[in-house]
Amino acid sequence: MRSGIILLALVAGLLPLSAHSTPSPRPASTRAIDTEIEAKIAALLSRMTLEEKVGQLNFPSYAFPRDPQLAAVKKGRIGGMLNVAHPDHVRVFEEAAAASRLKIPLLFAIDAIHSFHIAFPTPIAWAATWRPELAERAAEAVALETAQIGVNLTFAPMIDISRDPRWGRVIEGAGEDPFLASAFSAARVRGYHKGGLATAAKHFVGYGAPEGGRDYNGAQISMAELFDRYIPPFQAAIDAGTETVMASFNTVNGVPVTANRRLITGVLKERLGFDGLVMSDFAAITELINHGVAGDLGEAARKAINAGIDFDMEGKAFDRHLEENVRAGRVPMAEIDAAVRRVLRVKYRMGLFADSPGGARKIPPLVTQAAIRETARDVARESFVLLKNNGATLPVTPQSGIVAVIGAAALTANDHSWYGPAGLEKPTTEALLPALEKRVGNGQKLLFAPAFADGCGLAYADKAKALETARSADLVLLVLAEDCTASGEGVSRTDLGLTGMQEDLLNALAEVGKPIALVLETGRPLALTDASEKVAALLIAWHPGTEGRTALAEVLTGEFSPSGKLPMTFPRSVGQVPISYNDLPTSRPSTGDRFTTGYVDEKPTPLYPFGHGLSYTTFAYSGLQIEAPRMRRDGKVAIRVDVTNTGSRAGDEVVQLYTRQLVAARSRPLRELKGFTKVALAPNEKKTVFFTIKASDLAYHDDDGMPVIEPGKFDVFVGGSSAADLKGAFEIATD
Ligand code: NOJ
Repeated sequence: MRSGIILLALVAGLLPLSAHSTPSPRPASTRAIDTEIEAKIAALLSRMTLEEKVGQLNFPSYAFPRDPQLAAVKKGRIGGMLNVAHPDHVRVFEEAAAASRLKIPLLFAIDAIHSFHIAFPTPIAWAATWRPELAERAAEAVALETAQIGVNLTFAPMIDISRDPRWGRVIEGAGEDPFLASAFSAARVRGYHKGGLATAAKHFVGYGAPEGGRDYNGAQISMAELFDRYIPPFQAAIDAGTETVMASFNTVNGVPVTANRRLITGVLKERLGFDGLVMSDFAAITELINHGVAGDLGEAARKAINAGIDFDMEGKAFDRHLEENVRAGRVPMAEIDAAVRRVLRVKYRMGLFADSPGGARKIPPLVTQAAIRETARDVARESFVLLKNNGATLPVTPQSGIVAVIGAAALTANDHSWYGPAGLEKPTTEALLPALEKRVGNGQKLLFAPAFADGCGLAYADKAKALETARSADLVLLVLAEDCTASGEGVSRTDLGLTGMQEDLLNALAEVGKPIALVLETGRPLALTDASEKVAALLIAWHPGTEGRTALAEVLTGEFSPSGKLPMTFPRSVGQVPISYNDLPTSRPSTGDRFTTGYVDEKPTPLYPFGHGLSYTTFAYSGLQIEAPRMRRDGKVAIRVDVTNTGSRAGDEVVQLYTRQLVAARSRPLRELKGFTKVALAPNEKKTVFFTIKASDLAYHDDDGMPVIEPGKFDVFVGGSSAADLKGAFEIATD
């Protein structure tokens, strides 16, 4: 395929910037049953043989040579395929499905998460923008590119809450907070839908809480905590209309989710009302044998279908063993029919059948590569988080003097994309150094020394030259990157320090004595306590994507002020993990005294808290007002606060609202995010920001996972991070 596919006409206004409204984390209703679709499903189901029914539940990965799979599709033995990434291949399989007896169209799925052709920043960076509407635009753009080749389903959004940066997959999620993640979950579902893809909310549930941060490891989570912390983003995806949900690999409370009827049928399907398709993760049904809950593949197939898994991703278990299980009476036909009904429902809803309401599926026209790049740059620009900036070290201005850019990462063009369409050349990516060179003021001197042989600093190329370059400069702009292979699936870490020789270089540069501004590309929070002490400024750039280094140069030179905020706590040390701002109180709040909560060798507080992020300007909060601070259980309270730009530059600030219930039947978190909005402020400008909190937004869950709105007093905190100190109060009254 040529890159021409990306160069179609720009559809004006296709990716609008909409105003953000505060999201509601609470469930709405489930999707209404479409009687027309249900009637079609019943009619089709009545014509299907058992073999054809089981075929609809079989979801293999594209394999070469493809003749056996093509033959299986023609026999109605495959319901969908993953990793078909070329339009010609999609077409061949579509034709095979059209040649089958019942002509049921296929699902084609891939991991189009933050990239297909143009790479967007990784999803944790989307969350760092604190602007769900930007994530919606990004998801739409990724989907537009992907849908053009005929793929119709993305394995996204990944919405696993995690408080553990040892777990490499935090790069794919929206961080530690259920409220923030729910807003991003819904926005991403909406965006992929607009771009023409169905979605798979994943991984239901608790995958982000593996013990020890070790990928695939089990999690122990009470029902109350599941519903308070881990389920809200899934509820948000369901409310936004996700067609499918992917079950997680791990055990929760000792039972693998793939075989967990309580969670899949009881919670997801019955309690949350999800009536779409639940798929296993890759080979997860087969892996029930490794989990030790099935003795063979036949038993694994039975356990999975009986738990409520409808679609077997690459397990081959349903394909090989469901029929024998039904014939032997071990799996009721009703379970098979229920699963097939869900698969067909999703295909009808997606418009894949010609006789779907509104079918057959229409692919939205593609925007130009330039428009998609522009969106990628917008997201990157707003995702950078300025953690520290002593003495206005950043931005780089003519007053900064001679700047030594140090680090091979300044020359990298790695966009960190996880998926590329087959046969399409990688888009060009500008490296940071040339992007900076274009932007520094006339005559300003920029020196460069790579120091390392590679972008990730695994080995030195010339350390002495780097130190000498630093000595000749007034400011060191040190560009480091977490090892490129150190984030993502199967990449858990026990050490959250800088990788390779990077810490060694930083220490040596600190000895030189020039102020250091550290720019760090990372897929996860790192423990940067020592590094942070040695630098005057610290900017987290995440993995910024195709346009990321250009955006970074714009921000570093002050064209734009940083406005990102942390979606995940940065710990002081690995020993503090798991850590989050919304922990529960303890019997002995930390005072520094030995017999209060904490560590003897470390402070109890994080290095940088959730929600933290500086700007090149400063903001002040005042005038917190709570209107009618006594509400009933079905009531709401209106809160307003004034935010003023007290600096001399324009900037955007994320105004955050947190609550704490002081006394309740269960211990309630020290703080919980309940509202946020990003506002743009000119120097000296003041804006009033309004929030509405409903009593139902303050509900929590009991031991059985049932929601409780408990009357009582609440503190409210408003400001620019989870450490906000402007405080008010309201209450939910008993009557
Ligand atoms: C395994 C991953 O856990 C899942 O997120 C992904 O979508 C599938 N592989 C398919 O690639």
